[in-house]
Amino acid sequence: MRLYFIGMPGCGKTRLAKELSLKTGINYVDIDQDIIKLAGMSIEDIFKIKGEDYFRSLETKVLESYQTQKNLIISCGGGIIKNKDNKKLMKGITVFLDTPLDIIKNHLDSSINVRPLLKEKSLEELYEERKEAYLYFCDYRIEHHNYEDSIIKIDKILHSRKKRILVINGPNLNMLGKRNKDHYGSKTLQDINNLILDEKYFQYTFYQSNHEGEIIDKIQQAFSFDGLIINAGAYTHTSIAIHDALEILNIPKVEVHLSDPDSREEFRHINYIRSVCDYTVKGLKEQSYIEAVRYLKNIINVL
Ligand code: DQA
Repeated sequence: MRLYFIGMPGCGKTRLAKELSLKTGINYVDIDQDIIKLAGMSIEDIFKIKGEDYFRSLETKVLESYQTQKNLIISCGGGIIKNKDNKKLMKGITVFLDTPLDIIKNHLDSSINVRPLLKEKSLEELYEERKEAYLYFCDYRIEHHNYEDSIIKIDKILHSRKKRILVINGPNLNMLGKRNKDHYGSKTLQDINNLILDEKYFQYTFYQSNHEGEIIDKIQQAFSFDGLIINAGAYTHTSIAIHDALEILNIPKVEVHLSDPDSREEFRHINYIRSVCDYTVKGLKEQSYIEAVRYLKNIINVL
């Protein structure tokens, strides 16, 4: 899912996009910068030499090009709302950054010469002209006073929409930390779960059991989650029943192993899990789980 910031020129969209990108690890783009790249000239020159209609056509083109990216934070130009059809291209969450005009004036003082439309109209006039359209385009309106508060507000919006991942660990994985460190590393299961929690794109539910039937029950109940990460431990090599349960479960599933069972004893080469999962990560110790989360991040809309 993509997160779009709209609002008046100088309202703080790009800085907020940057800060949120740092916090979430999701890439951000600034439409104006991409238009400059596409046109090979400054925005001021595009307006002066080619005119506003040409600028708006590039804006729509650039907006269209973002459609292929699953997760992206996009800082839109202030006038994106002038073409109502752009709304159809903005599939995701659109946030209107409604910044008091006196704050905007402070932001703009230094950059007035690169805001072509503000040479013709006052900020107040432009706001009155556009306010309705911003409200029409947005899913959420945030009154923006400072970045810290706005990040908290956006965090709340995103959290209420966060997708849910179930992490299942099978037999003996509760003993990590005491098991062979060469194969499994030195982290405990709790350490690993804490590392996963640092990957903030999702909400996580953790489950560990040493019992095959309990694991199967959990898999059968997992249909309401958006994704599954499973390290079935030794059941990987023995359990047709877990294979069958996973086969029924119709959500993205990632098989994980701390060690690389395929390069260990022969009896670990049999695998009943892989063929019913979408992806496998193995041999990276605790990092295998993080790679599994990142795989899911790329295939699930995280915003
Ligand atoms: C394991 C590999 C299995 O072969 C073994 O039985 C485990 C852990 C892993 O994470 O490397 O218990 O799944």
